[in-house]
Amino acid sequence: MNIVDIIEKKKTKQELTAEEIRFFVNGFTDGSIPDYQMSALLMAVLLNGMTDAETFAMTDAMLHSGDVVDMSALGGTVVDKHSTGGIGDSTTLALAPILACCGVYVAKMSGRGLGFTGGTIDKLESIPGFDTALSEEEFFDVVKRVGCAVIGQTANLAPADKKIYALRDVTGTVNSIPLICASIMSKKLASGSDTILLDVKYGSGAFMPDPESALELASKMVAIGALAGKRIGALITDMQQPLSDHVGNSLEIIGIIDVLRGKKNRLYSEVREVALRLLALTGKYTLQTAEKAFCEAIESGKALNKFAEMVQAQHGDADYIFHPEKFEIGARDVVVADRDGYVTQMVAADIGRAVTRLGGGRMTKSDVIDFSVGVIMRVAIGNKVKRGDVLCEVYHNGGRGLSEAKQLVFNAITVGDERPAEHKIAYAYVDSNGVEMY
Ligand code: URA
Repeated sequence: MNIVDIIEKKKTKQELTAEEIRFFVNGFTDGSIPDYQMSALLMAVLLNGMTDAETFAMTDAMLHSGDVVDMSALGGTVVDKHSTGGIGDSTTLALAPILACCGVYVAKMSGRGLGFTGGTIDKLESIPGFDTALSEEEFFDVVKRVGCAVIGQTANLAPADKKIYALRDVTGTVNSIPLICASIMSKKLASGSDTILLDVKYGSGAFMPDPESALELASKMVAIGALAGKRIGALITDMQQPLSDHVGNSLEIIGIIDVLRGKKNRLYSEVREVALRLLALTGKYTLQTAEKAFCEAIESGKALNKFAEMVQAQHGDADYIFHPEKFEIGARDVVVADRDGYVTQMVAADIGRAVTRLGGGRMTKSDVIDFSVGVIMRVAIGNKVKRGDVLCEVYHNGGRGLSEAKQLVFNAITVGDERPAEHKIAYAYVDSNGVEMY
């Protein structure tokens, strides 16, 4: 088999065989196919697409490039949730303890943030002592004892994706539906859960610009997961403004604690929607019984206690969960409205970029994160504001990046005359039974 023939075949829009796909995935992972040939092939895929059979073969080859975790020893239902990424997206951390209270295991491997998106692992590390690098044995032990644990992705989980993603990032080949699909699903299928809920985001802070393309991506991922024998569904959700009103590392943990204490905001609505769909997917709940279990986990205080239990089991200081005022937060500044009107639009990615400028995110992998900085949104799309009203609070460390961050946030929030249409959290849900619109 020859890589040049495979590039030619894709360039002329022919379907590749599973053997050809395995050949280039394995060859690129072991270094026998160089970056320049893989780049040409990835661009041909971006331009000419892949059939469902090709996308499945690519997912399968990437999934088997490293370890495939076996969770069967846990002896129960193991659920996973994956978000395609966004701003203020702290859903996973609020969800894990709630689901554990509902009797399912959550054994989650998460990533770090890069660019304008935050990472679950960075947020957790803002809790003093929290260990995101447990050994496999300890990870399983915490999941078994507590019901949930969250660690960083292990090095040998879908290593082909790590190499291919790094190349896509610098060759303009990220936004290809089959490539995103194979990238996400190879990691999900390798991490060993039996029930998966994908949260596919669209809008100014997401990969997918509109709900229609997000639904197309979601439907393909659901089809691949179902072919691999998983119970799988996907929600298409809005990322046109930050999900949590708290954006930043320690600040997002505080936002999660608010939700676990029952504060009803956008993050709460999203967590509720994901939890209900995930619990119903397991087959142990209907949407109605799932709602009852969700409310009981929060209102009884059990979900907050479970979060503290997980933090303690992973060597973090659980006192911070009951006393969030212990988190060290930077100095406060504000961004105010310069006119009366309605908040009509936000560029969510620029709010993420503002947090990065303050030191709360990474421009390169080796950057060190300042957990104390971030932004608290005081308005959402549709809110009426008066000139001088606070749009958001900006928390900084000694003025680092402050003026740039304030300008970014100010420009990211549009105040206009017309009240905008209502922004729903979810646009659609899709699983093997079909699509349900919201
Ligand atoms: N997230 C991933 O893990 N991979 C992609 O290709 C895009 C988003």
